[in-house]
Amino acid sequence: MSRVYLDNNATTPVAPEVAEAMLRYLREDFGNASSVHWYGQRARDAVEQARAQVARLIGAHPSDVIFTSGGTESDNMSVFGAAGGTRTSPSSGTKHVITTAIEHPAVLYSVRELETRGVDATYVAPGAGGVVDPGEVSRAIRPETVLITVMLANNEVGTLQPVAEIGRVARERGITLHTDAVQAVGKVPVNVEALGVDLLSLSAHKLYGPKGVGALYVRKGTRLEPLMHGGHHERDRRPGTENVPGIVALGAAAELAAQKLDEDAQRIAALRDRLQAGILEHVEGVTVNGDAAHRQPNTLNVSFQGLKGESLVMALDLEGVACSTGSACSSGSTEPSHVLTAMGLSKEAARGSLRLSFGRYNSEADVDTALEAIARVVARLRALSPNYSAAGVHA
Ligand SMILES: Cc1ncc(COP(=O)(O)O)c(C=O)c1O
Repeated sequence: MSRVYLDNNATTPVAPEVAEAMLRYLREDFGNASSVHWYGQRARDAVEQARAQVARLIGAHPSDVIFTSGGTESDNMSVFGAAGGTRTSPSSGTKHVITTAIEHPAVLYSVRELETRGVDATYVAPGAGGVVDPGEVSRAIRPETVLITVMLANNEVGTLQPVAEIGRVARERGITLHTDAVQAVGKVPVNVEALGVDLLSLSAHKLYGPKGVGALYVRKGTRLEPLMHGGHHERDRRPGTENVPGIVALGAAAELAAQKLDEDAQRIAALRDRLQAGILEHVEGVTVNGDAAHRQPNTLNVSFQGLKGESLVMALDLEGVACSTGSACSSGSTEPSHVLTAMGLSKEAARGSLRLSFGRYNSEADVDTALEAIARVVARLRALSPNYSAAGVHA
């Protein structure tokens, strides 16, 4: 059976060029980047080259990029580091953080944890299209607000958030701004100056690098308490012997992403649009979720009336098509997507959603295979479903 991978928001395959680049640092150049000898210096040079490659992709200065174990750590460092390291309101002594209701759990649950420690939080809801209104973020600001954290691209519906507009407000008010750009970097142009962010998270495995390595951009002068304590690595911001092969791979992936950004985005958007048009033409009772005008090029989120997303995912997997119901981190949960319900979808519509996310290695043939499989599976499951009738009457 030929297999089609349409779950690139969960993770991407490692690019052959990236795998090739990292091998040398597993085999020959295995030194500890902190060692003074030849082996150590080979590793150090490679880490600094990767730092420059990542910095170039996001328009940053290399000294403002630190390496982490991935998007989750970068997000946690930002939320706990910034909320712990900035000013407290002299009047109340309580700090306040603003985020959105559609963040990835790495941000959402970090902010919830802050709340248990006495920090106030505001969760700004998006509009029906899954885009947050910068005016609402601005109105949520209080004198004691120490951090605003708003993702750049949503992992479930792909909507792009107006971070640059929020950045202007944050800068005016002197509030630290973090963006979780894990799903945006490598898919759309990302520039820390244009966005006006102080902190930006990214992760290698979403841009054709390996899992377990990522980076955090920290604007010079941003106060950030470290999450972990130990050696003097990464300018005292993140202790621990550097994951040299992973970091080299992230650097190589970043360089490749910079080269291929426009070409990938155009080709991938055409594939996504082809599948979207095909589903809308051949399958009835479907709704596309997320504002099409503010959506990253690779993501398609569709609700199928009367069906459960999990049943669709399982049936499609048997047909060789890999996709998901939403965030890979939330699968297994029986609750409907917090992103879709925050956008105002009913629980039923949210439960009937499927996320199809494209990547560099997908082809038109993949789209056609997926479309046939989706049409077949939907028809079969609906024939068995008590909740759906072709006339649109729901039991
Ligand atoms: C928006 C977003 N933030 C953070 C993460 C977590 O990144 P990592 O898997 O590298 O910890 C993900 C991964 O699913 C994501 O999509």
